[in-house]
Amino acid sequence: MNASVHVIDHPLVQHKLTLMRQKNRSTNSFRRLLHEIGMLMAYEVTRDMPTQLIDIETPLEAMKAPVIDGKKTVFVVVMRAGDGFLDGMLEVVPGARVGHVGLYRDPKTLGAVEYYFKMPHDMHERDAVVLDPMLATGNSAVAAVDRLKETRPKSIRFVSLLAAPEGLRNFHGHHPDVPVYTAAIDRQLNEHGYIVPGLGDAGDRIFGTK
Ligand code: URA
Repeated sequence: MNASVHVIDHPLVQHKLTLMRQKNRSTNSFRRLLHEIGMLMAYEVTRDMPTQLIDIETPLEAMKAPVIDGKKTVFVVVMRAGDGFLDGMLEVVPGARVGHVGLYRDPKTLGAVEYYFKMPHDMHERDAVVLDPMLATGNSAVAAVDRLKETRPKSIRFVSLLAAPEGLRNFHGHHPDVPVYTAAIDRQLNEHGYIVPGLGDAGDRIFGTK
């Protein structure tokens, strides 16, 4: 299977990402930019979403016209940074359902431990879009998708704002069938597992917790 990575290099996305990387940007501004990038990335992520023809009437005549079934989409938020992406995505696909996955890293084993998991019912009918702004080591992304696959969604896509090459390799080593959408692939991880040049701790910057 060909593991695919889509780098969304639209100038608006790249411009906003540059603003987000700046260390002196306020929490308010960082959050607003992530919201805007979420909307823009949603266009790319939903590009091949299936449509169905329905009968409508324009002021001039009857026609069959395409619609998407937004309710068949489930945004899966990887807590807590994934929350920052959600509002922008929901603005574009307002009928979508939302699931949450909470994972923390066990300080002894460094493995991902689940503390929260809640998905809508009938996942086998839904296309899942996993939201996690930072694909760093890839360990939590792998664990989140491992768990999500147990619910057997129709399809899975993974959206991150920034990815590290190491994280992409790790993720696609485990899930070659899941396409990744990202705004940039940065140089590498540092010794603390942060993406460099990166933008710092996404959760802290979204929620102002540092
Ligand atoms: N998580 C973050 O928030 N930032 C990184 O650089 C890596 C993981």
